[in-house]
Amino acid sequence: MERIDLMDPDVFVSGVPHDYFTWLRAHDPVAWHDEKDGTGYWLIARFDDVVEVNRDWRRYSNWLRASSLEDPVSEEELRVRRLVFVNQDPKQHTRTRKLVRGAFTPRRLQQLTGQIEAICADLVDDLLAADEVDFVHDISRHLPFRMVARMFGVPEADWDMVLPWVEQVTNNQEPAHNPGLSSRFEVQRKALEYGHELIARARRDGGDGILAELLDARIEREDGTFDQLSDDEIASFILVVVIGGVETTSHTVAEAIGLFADRPDLYDRLTAAGECPPSLVEELVRWGSPAMNFRRTATEDHELGGRTIKAGDKVVMSFSSANRDERHFADPHTFDPWRTPNDHIGFGGGGPHFCVGAQLARLDVRLMLNEILRRVTRFERTGEPQRLRSNAFAGWLRLPVTATGR
Ligand code: HEM
Repeated sequence: MERIDLMDPDVFVSGVPHDYFTWLRAHDPVAWHDEKDGTGYWLIARFDDVVEVNRDWRRYSNWLRASSLEDPVSEEELRVRRLVFVNQDPKQHTRTRKLVRGAFTPRRLQQLTGQIEAICADLVDDLLAADEVDFVHDISRHLPFRMVARMFGVPEADWDMVLPWVEQVTNNQEPAHNPGLSSRFEVQRKALEYGHELIARARRDGGDGILAELLDARIEREDGTFDQLSDDEIASFILVVVIGGVETTSHTVAEAIGLFADRPDLYDRLTAAGECPPSLVEELVRWGSPAMNFRRTATEDHELGGRTIKAGDKVVMSFSSANRDERHFADPHTFDPWRTPNDHIGFGGGGPHFCVGAQLARLDVRLMLNEILRRVTRFERTGEPQRLRSNAFAGWLRLPVTATGR
């Protein structure tokens, strides 16, 4: 079959190419793809192979050339990317991750639950007050954004200014969010500057917020001295949480609404149950795989899936493909909100970079769907939806719907 250029974000405007992935899994599960402006890469399509690459951090490095599909354009960009732990390998990764994990403890999540419920209630008020909404633009993106904004102390007066930045940084391939398609590095620089302002404010104001905690976080080194995060590392952490958390969570909720609008029978069964089953959240993440893929760089020559991978080769794990692998999931192209078991790898395949925000994402999505199931009886589409132009995140750019309340 002719290769599809997965580096090209236009490919995803017509949807995730699942037919192509199905073919690759059957015929060419570790497939070499040439790149127009790059080195070329191996695309890993099967579940078991993705898990192997994801776990074997010695052989597949995040540090060497960072973890996103596009190569860093300069050594300076690579240096800045490496400040954040998603672009580090153990032991350095382990150290940074330990320092930031205070931001996501179960106690912290419990403290956030009331705030998340209040945000969900406000958003469903907005949904029901409007005749028609673009569910992504008007509703779903605001839930994770407001959560993250509260976590990092972004003043409410800045929200209207900061949200478009967040979308520009995250979706730099989408002209609706990044007019002029400025380079990612350029738009990230502006966001990092704002991160430094938030840090300065937290340092001045103190309090018990996450930033104050990160400023204080210390871990003991083997020699008994203590290690702390630098301001650059904290600013990069804010950036990666924003990039990792806002778009993915928003798409997961929006994916549900598209399905509910098309399948009123399914929606009725879920509303009859009265609340969102945890299995629905897991199935949405498997089905939609909003974080489609991550990149690694091989550290040595070796064999995978019968192919010889050379040291320095670019290796791309497709979570979208692995989560539809018929060797692993029964009926993988059927959306089943009660699927059990469902050991999808939408949050990662169990390696050291497993999504640090997975529990927060699950909580956000479950509480939002609870509120929706309780108060909305029906969704209907009111216009053509549009997919996001992105080779990193899968989801809707626009999803026009109308909702009927109880
Ligand atoms: C449905 C929502 C989400 C999905 C599908 C998702 C998916 C992922 C995936 C696939 C990875 C890479 C795993 C790997 O390489 O093994 C990841 C990493 C990460 N995610 Fe998420 N994520 C979601 C929500 C969030 C949220 C809400 C946050 C923060 C508030 C977050 C922060 C991060 C961070 C910081 C990393 C890097 C972790 C590391 O390198 O150690 N994510 N996520």
